[in-house]
Amino acid sequence: MALTTSRAQHPDQPSDDGVDVARRLLDSSAQLSYDPLTEVDWDTPLDKDFHGASPEWSTLYGTAYWEEMSDAQRKELTRQEAASVACTGIWFEMILQQMILRDIYSKDPTDDTFQWALTEIADECRHSIMFARGAKKLGAPAYRPRRVAVELGRLFKTTAFGEAAYAAILVAEEVLDVMQRDWMRDERVVPFVRTINNIHVVEESRHMMFAREETRKHLARAGRVRRRIHAVMIAISAYVIVTSMVNREVYANAGLDKERALREARANEHHKSMVRASCSGLMEFLSSCGLLTRPALFWYKRAHLI
Ligand SMILES: [Fe+2]
Ligand SMILES: [Fe+2]
Repeated sequence: MALTTSRAQHPDQPSDDGVDVARRLLDSSAQLSYDPLTEVDWDTPLDKDFHGASPEWSTLYGTAYWEEMSDAQRKELTRQEAASVACTGIWFEMILQQMILRDIYSKDPTDDTFQWALTEIADECRHSIMFARGAKKLGAPAYRPRRVAVELGRLFKTTAFGEAAYAAILVAEEVLDVMQRDWMRDERVVPFVRTINNIHVVEESRHMMFAREETRKHLARAGRVRRRIHAVMIAISAYVIVTSMVNREVYANAGLDKERALREARANEHHKSMVRASCSGLMEFLSSCGLLTRPALFWYKRAHLI
């Protein structure tokens, strides 16, 4: 089946009650879901004439170093960066599958929300296999988040609940969403990566709708102190997610001077503004939920999300 970009819709619509949302999501999923094992072209060998991601999304785009790089180096870098984003995606999908499973552990299995939650976990399971195969095909090593992020993730996935879990899920999904929409439409990006991104964008739009719904629902029952504590927890998770997106080793693996690349990437205002622009909808949502408290804002600013 050919994948087209027109199917992906941003789930910004206001929600009805939770049960209704879950029913609609289940119907939508029954109509349009993908099996990446058969949809993605895994067999054609990697064509190194393509980028792995839209060059404008590279952490070095717009720097002096970028100007000095050859076309082949730029393409290798965006392939390594895309693979790193995929590996970070797997890491986060493992966290969120566990959080959702914990959330529904003792709930009513006949309920639509319960069944949607399991559907979402099944989606994420397919996505992680898809990202793993994609990263391998891009010729990348296993990129893992830094140790402190791995351990914070371990703690978070074991303890986070309610709006803290669902808003953190939303943050990860939103941060990926805008960049993947760009990559899936970009003819400079290698076709199998475009298909991967298209599948992810379509299926994640349902996840984001659910995450918004669950965040609102849980917040409605949360007191002021809990909301303030969770606001900071969500912001710190956002910081950890965003700073884990591109692994430090991508530069050396693309044949670049790692120290210089890291220095220029950290100071890259172009990349910061891309991230900020992509998160404006997310920040609006968090603000409407009262989750942009002053301590939370400190972390969002530090991660260049606002
Ligand atoms: Fe996913
Ligand atoms: Fe998701």
